[in-house]
Amino acid sequence: MPATLITGGTGLIGSAIARRLLARGDDVVLLDVMPSPERISALRTDFPDGSVEVARGDVTALGSLLDLVQRHQVDAIVHLASMLGPDSDADPGFATRTNCEGTTNVLDIARLRGLRRVVLASSIAVFGDDSCYAPADLPLREDAPQWGAPGMRMYSAAKIYCEQLARHYTRRFGVSVTALRPSVVHGQGRRSGATSVVTKVIEDAMFDEPVTVGLGNASMSLIYVEEVADQFVALLDADPAVVAEHPFYNSGGFTCGVRDLAEVVRSILPDAQITVEPSAERDVGGLVTAVRGDLLGEVLGHTPRFATLADGVLHQMNLVRSQSGLPPLESPTALAR
Ligand SMILES: NC(=O)c1ccc[n+]([C@@H]2O[C@H](COP(=O)([O-])OP(=O)(O)OC[C@H]3O[C@@H](n4cnc5c(N)ncnc54)[C@H](O)[C@@H]3O)[C@@H](O)[C@H]2O)c1
Repeated sequence: MPATLITGGTGLIGSAIARRLLARGDDVVLLDVMPSPERISALRTDFPDGSVEVARGDVTALGSLLDLVQRHQVDAIVHLASMLGPDSDADPGFATRTNCEGTTNVLDIARLRGLRRVVLASSIAVFGDDSCYAPADLPLREDAPQWGAPGMRMYSAAKIYCEQLARHYTRRFGVSVTALRPSVVHGQGRRSGATSVVTKVIEDAMFDEPVTVGLGNASMSLIYVEEVADQFVALLDADPAVVAEHPFYNSGGFTCGVRDLAEVVRSILPDAQITVEPSAERDVGGLVTAVRGDLLGEVLGHTPRFATLADGVLHQMNLVRSQSGLPPLESPTALAR
C-alpha cells in the first residue's frame, strides 16, 4: 500500500497529522532530523497495529530522502520540516538550506517520481503585520498582499519563496501542490518558537504554580493543533482539480490577546494564578492578528471541529491532565449549566 511521508513528522503538527492517518489505516512514514521519543512512543502505544515508520534524516539530504520515498512506496508528502521563526533569523544560511532547499528537494522528488500530492506548511508569516493593511481588509483573506511578518524576516521570506516554488512546480512540472497557512498553533508541549508563551498560559497554571507571562498587550490569531491537523488531511485528500484552482489556504483562527487567553484558562480553572504583564508589542513576531479561514469550507466543504477557543484550550488542558493522572476539567458552558 502506498505510504504518506510527513517531513518534520514527530513535531507538534506532524504527530497530530500522523494520528489522523493511522486512525484510518494509512501507512505513514515520519522523517525527522531530531525525532521526538515521547511522540513516537505515544503513537506506537495508541496505534499498536498501525503502520508507522520513523526515519532520522534531514530534508536537505536529497539522496536519502529519495531512498526513503522509494523504499516505502510513498505517493504523497506532507512537508513540515522547517526551522521556526527566531531560529531562522538567528542563522539565515542554515534556514535557507532547511526551509528553501529542503522544499525544492521534496518538490523535485514529487515531480520525478510522479507523486499524487504534496502539501506544504506555509504560515500566516507570509502576511505583514496589521499596520500593512486597511482595517476593512482584516481579517485577511488568502489573496492579501504578502509583506512578510516583520518580526521574523528570514522565516517569512522562506515561506513566501516556498509558495512561489509551489506555483512554479505546478505550472512548469504539473505537480499537485497545495499549502496551508496556519495561524499561531497551540498544542501540548509546544515550548519553542515565538509563541511558547501560549503553552505557559494554558498548561502551567494547572499545577498550582503561579505563572507570570509577558506580551500582555499582544494579540494573535490562534488555532488548535487538532484543527490544523484536520485541515492538512483535508488538503492531502482534496481533488486535484480543486487544488489546481485554489492552491493556498489560511487556517483561520480566533483573534485573542494573551490576557484573553488567560481569561479563557480562568473560565475553565477558576483557581489558576496567571499574571499577565504589559508589553510594548501589539502582536507576536509581527504576525497579523486576524485571518479568515473560510476558503477551506467554501471550496473543500471542510467544517471546524472546535467551535470556540475555549474548546481547544480545554482539550489541550485535559490531555496534559490525563498524562499527569489528574481528573478532566469541564467546559465553561457545562459549568454554567
Ligand atoms: N506551530 C506554529 O505555530 C506554526 C504556524 C505556522 C506554520 N507552521 C509551520 O508548520 C510546520 C510544522 O510546525 P510545528 O509547529 O509542528 O513545528 P515543530 O518544531 O514542532 O516540528 C518541526 C519538526 O521538523 C523537524 N525538522 C527541522 N529541521 C528538519 C530537517 N532539516 N529535516 C527533517 N526534519 C527537520 C524538527 O526536528 C521538528 O520535529 C513548520 O513548517 C512551521 O513553519 C507552524
